[in-house]
Amino acid sequence: MQQSNSYALITGASQGLGRAFAFEFAKRKTNLVLVALPNENLQELASQLADFQILVHYFETDLSLGENVEALAQTINENFRVHILINNAGRGGTMRFEEAGMDYLDGILQLNIVAPTLLTRLLLPNLRQQKQAYMLSVSSMAAFSPIGYKTVYPASKAFIRYWSLGLREELKGSGVSVSVVYPGPMKTNVDVTQRIEKQGFMGKVGLLTPTKIAAIAVREMFQGKATIVPGFANKLNRALMALLPKFIKIPLISNAVEKEVG
Ligand SMILES: NC(=O)c1ccc[n+]([C@@H]2O[C@H](COP(=O)([O-])OP(=O)(O)OC[C@H]3O[C@@H](n4cnc5c(N)ncnc54)[C@H](OP(=O)(O)O)[C@@H]3O)[C@@H](O)[C@H]2O)c1
Repeated sequence: MQQSNSYALITGASQGLGRAFAFEFAKRKTNLVLVALPNENLQELASQLADFQILVHYFETDLSLGENVEALAQTINENFRVHILINNAGRGGTMRFEEAGMDYLDGILQLNIVAPTLLTRLLLPNLRQQKQAYMLSVSSMAAFSPIGYKTVYPASKAFIRYWSLGLREELKGSGVSVSVVYPGPMKTNVDVTQRIEKQGFMGKVGLLTPTKIAAIAVREMFQGKATIVPGFANKLNRALMALLPKFIKIPLISNAVEKEVG
């Protein structure tokens, strides 16, 4: 699905799943706007992606600050037509809630909830002006159950789920298709990789590479699917989580995660 002078905007594009999304769109000859924190080699990535004969622009900004989200959206709306928005930037973490600092909690809530909500609100008029537009937000398998020692992270991903599906309903027939992807574990940054290793078997159920997840997510986004659960093991896991009563499910998952905090 190409619109030659239009762009896909990806947040958190410098590494991990966001970087994999960038290569997936580049292979499909879609122009790109990449967003990530400053000084994370976005320039180098942009020049690699330009080898695919597409236009690539990048913006380095901290999306956990509302004023940066507004400034970014204004620049984008003034200079680019956007037909694909990928709300990917997000951060997790495992910590006893009582030991979590204000910066840690605020950082997760701002980046995972506030930034995608505000950015989408501000870019929606731009998306609506395109003949056909797509919006994909990255949730997590963690959205399907409350989890002790993660607390705010699964709650933030459940927000993405509810908000996106509500918005999808509201935008029915508007030409903007809204999808949510629920990745299972991916060995992306060092911190996440160590956490997956510490969880043992439970951490590795449904493990897929970011490249594989990006390919599945983009394909199903273009098919207009609301809910994208990549991989058979994750689909099975989701079905099991829906069946298991909360008094079994929540302790089972939380006990596996507790191994990370020791
Ligand atoms: N990894 C997993 O196992 C897993 C599982 C399920 C869901 N997810 C979700 O998948 C998404 C991508 O995760 P990932 O593992 O690929 O993460 P990652 O490797 O840590 O990459 C995160 C990306 O977000 C950017 N970012 C972080 N803080 C930012 C901020 N304040 N402002 C702007 N950009 C910021 C990072 O930019 P810099 O490089 O500049 O820091 C990076 O490009 C997240 O929403 C995550 O919750 C991950």
